[in-house]
Amino acid sequence: MANKILIYGGSGGIGSSTARLLRERGHDLHLVGRNEESLGVLADELDSGYTVGDVVADPDVFSRASQEAGKELGGLVYAIGTINLRSLQRLSESDLLQDFQVNAMGAALAVQAALPALKKSSEGSSVVLYSSVAAKQGFSLHASTGMAKGAVSGLTLSLAAELAPRVRVNAIAPSLTQTPLAAGILTNDAVAAGIAKQHAMERLGTPEDIAALTAFLLSREASWMTGQILSVDGGRSTIAS
Ligand SMILES: NC(=O)c1ccc[n+]([C@@H]2O[C@H](COP(=O)([O-])OP(=O)(O)OC[C@H]3O[C@@H](n4cnc5c(N)ncnc54)[C@H](OP(=O)(O)O)[C@@H]3O)[C@@H](O)[C@H]2O)c1
Repeated sequence: MANKILIYGGSGGIGSSTARLLRERGHDLHLVGRNEESLGVLADELDSGYTVGDVVADPDVFSRASQEAGKELGGLVYAIGTINLRSLQRLSESDLLQDFQVNAMGAALAVQAALPALKKSSEGSSVVLYSSVAAKQGFSLHASTGMAKGAVSGLTLSLAAELAPRVRVNAIAPSLTQTPLAAGILTNDAVAAGIAKQHAMERLGTPEDIAALTAFLLSREASWMTGQILSVDGGRSTIAS
């Protein structure tokens, strides 16, 4: 498998934790995000390349990132997303569209642009996307998030079928994980503790919980896994608590 992994959202909570773990395991990396400063600092630390751009406002970012990442890729991680918790009544058309674009369309366009490099890897390559517990179980106020992440799950299955056997495609469905994305929901300690208690494992997720499975899915050890939506959620999607 080619050594280089392209990580969209590489400076985010799950993206940066994944990037550090993959670097420890000897991978070369190319990171993508909006914030040049945080990407540059992490890229220096990890000796990686990076591309700056917004996956909605700057659609050229996909071709730039693929070109700058190089001709051959062992994997792609799309760790960009939104958590927009509002009732259906309070969701505007542009909220719904923005969530769909960031979570689902961005993932599709990222894979599309990287496909020639992913197909070049002689030992096959691996794509990891992120769905959500909210696409497996119904929660109120999650209409936009659940809809967008349901699309990511469907995309995962379709691409896994279309790209096999050269490219494996899997998704991880986390429950609430302590990253900058979730910070707005977790500002109140009592609320955070209450949400943690709703999980059989009685805690929230950490970026490392999700990075560990991401790295596994990218590795040769997962070479017989494709088209899977894997829950890493402290039991939230299957165990009543
Ligand atoms: N955290 C959770 O509770 C949770 C639960 C379920 C699913 N997930 C999914 O897990 C994945 C990773 O989430 P996370 O929690 O690690 O998020 P995060 O900490 O907010 O990181 C997101 C990363 O994506 C980048 N980004 C955001 N919007 C972008 C845009 N429009 N264009 C380009 N880059 C953009 C950010 O870059 P800048 O900082 O440069 O803007 C950041 O590097 C997402 O798909 C998310 O939906 C997370």
